[in-house]
Amino acid sequence: MNSLLYQNPLLYERLLSVLHGKSWKKRYELMAKLVGKNKKVLDLGCGSCVLVKYLDQSCEYIGIEANTKFVRYAQEKNLNIIHGDIFEVDFPKADIVVISDILHHIIPKQEQLIKKALESASVLIICEPKHGKGICNWISSNKLFFKLFGDNDGINRYEEMMAWEYSESALREFLSQFGKMETHRAGNSIIARLVI
Ligand SMILES: C[S@@+](CC[C@H](N)C(=O)[O-])C[C@H]1O[C@@H](n2cnc3c(N)ncnc32)[C@H](O)[C@@H]1O
Repeated sequence: MNSLLYQNPLLYERLLSVLHGKSWKKRYELMAKLVGKNKKVLDLGCGSCVLVKYLDQSCEYIGIEANTKFVRYAQEKNLNIIHGDIFEVDFPKADIVVISDILHHIIPKQEQLIKKALESASVLIICEPKHGKGICNWISSNKLFFKLFGDNDGINRYEEMMAWEYSESALREFLSQFGKMETHRAGNSIIARLVI
């Protein structure tokens, strides 16, 4: 069973936009800018497909998502979305793969996902919120809060997700082993463009 956050795509978008403030819009604008024009974009764990609103209209978009409610919401908007698990679905070839707010969910399979994504495209855009240590982090890592209201997507386990400990520099180091990388900042989020 997933948390309240993952039961309603509209609630998910509203709450996260409040939590991230101005940087919510900024991070999708930045990712869209890094994508550019006329690209085939594969968005892994695409959620409610927030990214698609920011992409240039010349881009072709495909999302993959396991949450049935999010998939239905995207399908109602006629978006191109595959319902399935990113570790089971064969990825179509793309120009760019986007991995936004996913790596900290899929611990310990982060390396497996990056390698699989690089078989589909030679450019990856990865967005991750910075791992913090403040009061908000303390609340969100409480097991009961996590299960009922927090980042519990109903797919990945609490114990594994809590093992995510990448600092900004550790994330850079992890990603740079796969190719040439540039990083950007949007508020609390780090956005990396990785090219092999
Ligand atoms: C924090 S949300 C990010 C959504 C979106 N990428 C964004 O930037 O708004 C994480 C998403 O990953 C999805 N997810 C987690 N593990 C997955 C898996 N193994 N296969 C497919 N989707 C997955 C969850 O259902 C959730 O919608």
